[in-house]
Amino acid sequence: MNKFTWREVHRLFLEFFEKKGHAVLPSSSLVPTDDPTLLFTNAGMVQFKNAFLGLEKRPYTRAATIQKCMRVSGKHNDIEQVGPSPRHHSFFLMLGNFSFGDYFKEEAIRFAWEFLTSVLKMPGDRFHFTVYKDDKESADLWRKVSGAPTEKIHHMGEETNFWMMGDIGPCGPNTELIWDRGPEYCTCGKENCSPGLDNDCDRWWEVWNLVFMQYEQLNDGSRRRLLNPGVDTGMGFERLVAILQDANTNYDTDLFLPLMERIRKRCPARELDISQQEKLVAYRVLADHARAIAFLLADNVIPGNEGKSYVLRMIMRRAIRFEKRLGLESRFLGELTQAVIDLMGDYYGELIERRDFILRATQQEEERFERTLSEGEARLEQFIADLKRAGKKVLPGVDAFRLYDTYGFPLEMTEEIAAEQGIGIDKDGFQKEMARQRKRSRTSSLKADIVSVRGGGEDPTQFVGYEKIEAEGHIQGIYSEDHAETELIFDKTPFYAEAGGQTADTGRIENIDQPGRARVLDVQKDSQGAFIHRVRIAAGAFDRGDQCRLIVDAARRRQIARNHTATHLLHKVLRQVLGGHVIQAGSYVSAEELRFDFSHFEKLTAEELLKVEDLVNSVVLQDLPVKTEQMPLAEAKASGATAHFEQEYRGKALVRVVSVGEYSRELCGGTHVNRSGEIGVIKLVSEEAVAAGTRRIRAVTGEGAIRSWRTTEGLLNQLREELGDEPLAGLNRLHAELDDLHSRVGQMTEEILSSKRDELLAHGERIGAVAIVSGRFDMEIEQIKRLADLTEERVHPAVVLLAGEIAGSGIIICKVSKDIAAVDAKSIVRTAAAPLGGSGGGNRHFAQGGGGNVEELNQALRAGVDSVRSLLINADRGDD
Ligand code: SER
Repeated sequence: MNKFTWREVHRLFLEFFEKKGHAVLPSSSLVPTDDPTLLFTNAGMVQFKNAFLGLEKRPYTRAATIQKCMRVSGKHNDIEQVGPSPRHHSFFLMLGNFSFGDYFKEEAIRFAWEFLTSVLKMPGDRFHFTVYKDDKESADLWRKVSGAPTEKIHHMGEETNFWMMGDIGPCGPNTELIWDRGPEYCTCGKENCSPGLDNDCDRWWEVWNLVFMQYEQLNDGSRRRLLNPGVDTGMGFERLVAILQDANTNYDTDLFLPLMERIRKRCPARELDISQQEKLVAYRVLADHARAIAFLLADNVIPGNEGKSYVLRMIMRRAIRFEKRLGLESRFLGELTQAVIDLMGDYYGELIERRDFILRATQQEEERFERTLSEGEARLEQFIADLKRAGKKVLPGVDAFRLYDTYGFPLEMTEEIAAEQGIGIDKDGFQKEMARQRKRSRTSSLKADIVSVRGGGEDPTQFVGYEKIEAEGHIQGIYSEDHAETELIFDKTPFYAEAGGQTADTGRIENIDQPGRARVLDVQKDSQGAFIHRVRIAAGAFDRGDQCRLIVDAARRRQIARNHTATHLLHKVLRQVLGGHVIQAGSYVSAEELRFDFSHFEKLTAEELLKVEDLVNSVVLQDLPVKTEQMPLAEAKASGATAHFEQEYRGKALVRVVSVGEYSRELCGGTHVNRSGEIGVIKLVSEEAVAAGTRRIRAVTGEGAIRSWRTTEGLLNQLREELGDEPLAGLNRLHAELDDLHSRVGQMTEEILSSKRDELLAHGERIGAVAIVSGRFDMEIEQIKRLADLTEERVHPAVVLLAGEIAGSGIIICKVSKDIAAVDAKSIVRTAAAPLGGSGGGNRHFAQGGGGNVEELNQALRAGVDSVRSLLINADRGDD
């Protein structure tokens, strides 16, 4: 088989389906935009879910993608197999073609077969096929299309041949192409080993799954028939590449080898206390997880304690643990993530775009985890030793919870470490402790737009920044790596820690107990809810227990508040102008600007943008009061508040609702202006696509808007200086002058060419009735061609052969009058181009050629003329 590189397979797949009339679309984000049923995009069809269900009309009925997928939670979860398995991943790419009420079984089967056997040239006799129980049509199609005998077509049940996206959603029977790796790979040992046994034998690798979407699975367990059945296919990219590269595992392909190599190079030479197999698993886990980490961070998932953020943290911490097991020095994960960016960044631009963020977040998580890891592990070892001594085999939930709460150990990690020593975990007990903790503190903290609303003093840091921008607090903790930058934790702070897309406050800290001044550069919340202030100490010192004055930079906070409140207004206005399908996909609020990502499928028109800007400004000018209230989630929803990530608010005792007059109500933990008039004005700066179906608007408000106008005005003034008070009239004038110049240059060129022609003719010769005119002119190619035309017109019939040096290459042009049969312009040019080390092309009457040996140009011209001459002489003789 041809050993295609992953890049070639990537390109060939999309090209093939484009030729078959499919719209080639980019992968959507790993974070599904509007789908509370799904944590991560887990298949290519996710971005098309509504198109399958008939809820959304697309401008195309066929599409193809290479989709970023994660299978680490919910219905499709492969995380446990990552490492030991040669072909399962947390993150992977899925090749897919889709039909929305367009083609169905026959084309789907034909396309798959043609791509694999004709484009990739995989031998067809190595495939088996599975089809749904009674799907005779697919079985017949396989027989017809592939010529496979009946014993290679296996009818299977729902487990293998009925595909569902999740517990609800589009679904249907499917058929799979199974690759036979050969009997030597058999791991089941059965005499009648075949895919029909469905026993996970490693001889059979599922290559492609073709799903015939026909139903929607509903909440009540029933299935609704879809009006327009469609096709959803999915082929694991890594696995396909492994087969094509004749690799034993996915990790032995050019998609992973650069990562594996990087790990191998960094592994210390000393003997490790682990087996070869354990070492291999560790390599694979690291390579797999580094990809997941880079791609998740690139799609804006940040490590944290809930939902997607928790999964990312778990993956990061798992990777760090395996890194340690290999004896790798700390901070290696950042290097490995960088290798992923280097390897795949040119195909997945978000990796390059978010490189700094990815590397910073990886480094921070490594640092944060390292601080507690060894203590936590020691503690867990202690728990395990105690259990073993007592002859027990299950770690109580309360202990697992203590590890989680105090040391930031994800439950899954505790479980994995304990399992290695034959100890289980009381998971119910853990969940009970978790619930108790939630109740104790009335609500949990962190995540997206939620800032803790508890005030009972149980938080490591009490946030007082909604009411004040100055407060006094005691230092509870100090992290210090060097003296220039330190991290301080206070019992109380007015500084907002980055959350919900709102950037952190900056400002200063004055020590009351001893001389000490520091500048606050950034504030982040850790997993326990402590606000970590990253500061640069300007003078003096800070010690644990010191009482300090914390002062937020007020002007900056005001500008952030303007941008945040304006984001809420923008959200509301977009829904009003574009429709209810507009859903927030992400937002970023800083002092400089606001960025709002939302679901929408087309570029906004100029009119729509003006309308949006006008409407937001009209609400600003109404100077409506901005209010914040705390209430239970149900009450907030009943009052019409928008919650973007509703599942993340569930389980909170109280949520915070921010409203602007009666106009907008949103669940939000951010800081806002007191009245909409404080925003001053909003100016949209840009509108663009960030992913399929997701648009981004950037805008500025208040001082930012004034700055933006100043910049525009500055530019206009510069233009006025250059072009006069009426720059447009000035520009038109310039255009007219330029047109005039162009026509004059044209005329002059024509005159020059005429005089060159006359020079040429003075040296021409004639053989019979035919003139031979040749010469060398180092001019632009168009001019040489024009000169050939002018000359031929004048001394018709003629053979004109011109040469010239252009940009370091020799060029030959030959023009032969229509009525000359003896001379072929193309062969003359080829003869002449030979000494130049090149060639040429064209037709009998006009041809052009050239080559790099410019110093041979005169010789080339001579060779051409000689050849013309002898052809004409021979022809003349023939005529006699
Ligand atoms: N949705 C199907 C799968 O994930 C085919 O794309 O296997």
